[in-house]
Amino acid sequence: MTGHAPAGRDDDAARGHRADGHPGAQAPPAASSAGGSELITGIGELHTVDPARGADSVLTDAAVVVENGLIAWVGRASEAPAADRATDVEGRAVLPGWVDSHTHLVFAGDRGAEFAARMAGEAYAAGGIGVTTNATREAGDETLRGLVAGRVRDAVAGGTTYLETKTGYGLDVEQELRAARIAADAADEVTFLGAHLVPEGADPDDYVETVCGPMLQAVRPHVQWADVFCERGAFTPEQSRRVLEACRDAGLGLRVHGNQIGPGEGVALAVELGAASVDHCNFLSDEDVAALAGSATVATVLPACDLSTRAPLAPARKLLDAGATVAIASNCNPGTSYTTSMNFCVATAVLQMKLTVDEAIRAATLGGAKALRRDVSAPDRPAVGHLAVGTRADLHVLDAPAAVHLAYRPGMPLTWGVWRAGRREV
Ligand code: NIG
Repeated sequence: MTGHAPAGRDDDAARGHRADGHPGAQAPPAASSAGGSELITGIGELHTVDPARGADSVLTDAAVVVENGLIAWVGRASEAPAADRATDVEGRAVLPGWVDSHTHLVFAGDRGAEFAARMAGEAYAAGGIGVTTNATREAGDETLRGLVAGRVRDAVAGGTTYLETKTGYGLDVEQELRAARIAADAADEVTFLGAHLVPEGADPDDYVETVCGPMLQAVRPHVQWADVFCERGAFTPEQSRRVLEACRDAGLGLRVHGNQIGPGEGVALAVELGAASVDHCNFLSDEDVAALAGSATVATVLPACDLSTRAPLAPARKLLDAGATVAIASNCNPGTSYTTSMNFCVATAVLQMKLTVDEAIRAATLGGAKALRRDVSAPDRPAVGHLAVGTRADLHVLDAPAAVHLAYRPGMPLTWGVWRAGRREV
C-alpha cells in the first residue's frame, strides 16, 4: 500500500478544535519515517483487540512502544520502558488500523445515475459491472494508477492500514492482467475476480474456460486470492465451482461474493471449498448461518453497500450470536459502495446492524485480518488487525477519548493519526 498524508490538506483544520471534553487538539507532524523506537503515550483507551487478552483487551492509561515497524511493548503507561522518542496522544483512543478486506479500487468512471435510479426505486443488478468495465478499459494506465492511488490515500487518511483490492473490471486477458499489476502496486493483497460478470457478447461457458485458463495464467504472478460473483445474473454455482477449483489448483486462496442479491449457494460453496471469506451475506438461510458458524470461513459484511443498494442488512448480529467470525469491509466500488470510509462502515454496523462498538471494531480489524488469513504472525509476515508484541505497528488514533465516539458521532472526522508498519502517515 502506498498511502501518504493527503497533499495540500490543512491538517489543523481537518483535525479541528472541539469543545467535546477530550484533550486539546495538537496537529501531529506529517508522514514521519524516523528510525529507532517510539513510545506512544497518553492513550486514554487502547483497544488491543488481542485475542490472548480475552475480555481484558481494552486498556486505559496505556502506552505502546513501536520499533522496526512492529509493536515492541504494550501496557500501562506507568510501566512503559524508555524509547528513543515519544509521542503523547493526550488522552485519545487508539485502535489497530482498519483492515479493509474487500475493495474494488481498480476502476474508472462513476455510476451516479444508476445510484440515483436506485434511490428512486430501481433494484441493483449485476449488469452495471459492464458499464464500469467499458469506462475502465478506456482509461490509460497512468490515469488508472492515479485513480487507484488516490483511493488508497483516502483509505489511509480514514484509518485503514491494510487493504485488499481486486481485478474484475477488465474481463479479458489483457485488461485483467493490467488491473492485477496496478492492484499489486497499490494494495497489500490482490484478488483475481475475472469471474465478476460474463462480458457482453461472450458465451458464458467459453468465458469461464478463459478465466480458468489463459486469464488465470496471466494474472497468477500478481495475485494471492481468487473470487467469483456467485449470483443470479453473474455466475451459476456450477460455473463458480469450476473457477474456484481451477484457482485453488493454481495455488490461490479462495473468496466468494455470495448471497448478495438473493438466497443462493454461494455460502455453502465457500464453506465446502474452505474459502477464507464469503462476502455480502445478505440473504442467509439458517443452514447458511450454521455452516458459517461451524467453519473457518469468515462472513464479511459490507454495511455501506447494503445502504447504497437498499438491500436487507446482512445479519451480522445473528452470525455473531451463532458463533461465526464476522468481518466488516468497505467494498469500495462505483456500483454498490463508493466509499473507503471504514469509520462509516463501523458506525453503520453499530447503529443499524446492532453490533456493540467493541464487536464492530473487532470485525473491522481482527475480522478483516482473519478474512485475509493475516491474523497470525509468520516469520516474515507480522500479523495485522490486533496490537500485541510482534504484530505490525498499525495504529489508528481517534480524535476522541473513547472508541464509542465512532458511532456516537457518525460522519465526524475522527481519524487523528495513523501509523502504518511503524511509520506515521497521518
Ligand atoms: O461487491 N457484487 C459484485 N461486485 C461489487 C459490485 C460491482 C458493481 O456493481 O460494479 C460488489 O458489490
